[in-house]
Amino acid sequence: MVAFSARVKQAGTLNPQAAAMKTRKYLVLNGPNLGHIGERQPEIYGSQGLDCLPELLKQLMGEAADGIELLFHQSNFEGNLIDRLEKAKREGLDGVAFNAGALTHTSLAIADCLAWIGVPCVEVHLSNIFARTDEPLRQKSLMGKSCMGVVAGFGILGYALAVLALERRNAEEKDKK
Ligand code: DQA
Repeated sequence: MVAFSARVKQAGTLNPQAAAMKTRKYLVLNGPNLGHIGERQPEIYGSQGLDCLPELLKQLMGEAADGIELLFHQSNFEGNLIDRLEKAKREGLDGVAFNAGALTHTSLAIADCLAWIGVPCVEVHLSNIFARTDEPLRQKSLMGKSCMGVVAGFGILGYALAVLALERRNAEEKDKK
C-alpha cells in the first residue's frame, strides 16, 4: 500500500498571494495493480509515473495549481479503498480522482460507497477502456453513475484533467453561493 501526500509546489516557494488562498485538497486514489504505474505494461498504461502529475497540473492550471494540495493513496484491497473514501468524506476533501482499476468493472461495494458519500469524484483510467473491445467487461463501469465524469485514455494526464474538472466544478459551486 502506498500512502503519501505531496504539495504541488514545495512549501516555502508558494507566492504570498497563493499562500493567502484557501488550499483545496484532492485525493488521487488508485486501486489494485496501480501501485506500479509507469512500469506495468507500459504499452497499455504508459510509461509516465504519478510523479509527473504536479508538473502536468501546473501546465494545465498555471499559478492556480499553487492553491491545490494533492493527497495520494493506493491499495490492492477493495475495503481499504472504501475506508479511504469514507475518510475523504470525514476530512471534507474537495474531490477525488479515482482509478479503481479492475474494481471499476466489478465492485458494487465501491459503487455503493460513491453513491452516498457526497465527495465529488471523477473516474480515471490510464487506458481507453472503451477501445478495449477484445475485453467487453472493461467497457463497463459500475461506479461511473456516481461520478461527475470519466477520463480515459490519456495516461497520467487523465488525473490532471480530473483535478482540473473538479476545480472548475468547485469554483462554479462557490459562485452560486
Ligand atoms: C485501468 C483499466 C482497468 O480495466 C484495469 O483493470 C486496470 C487499469 C486503466 O487505468 O486503464 O487495472 O483502470
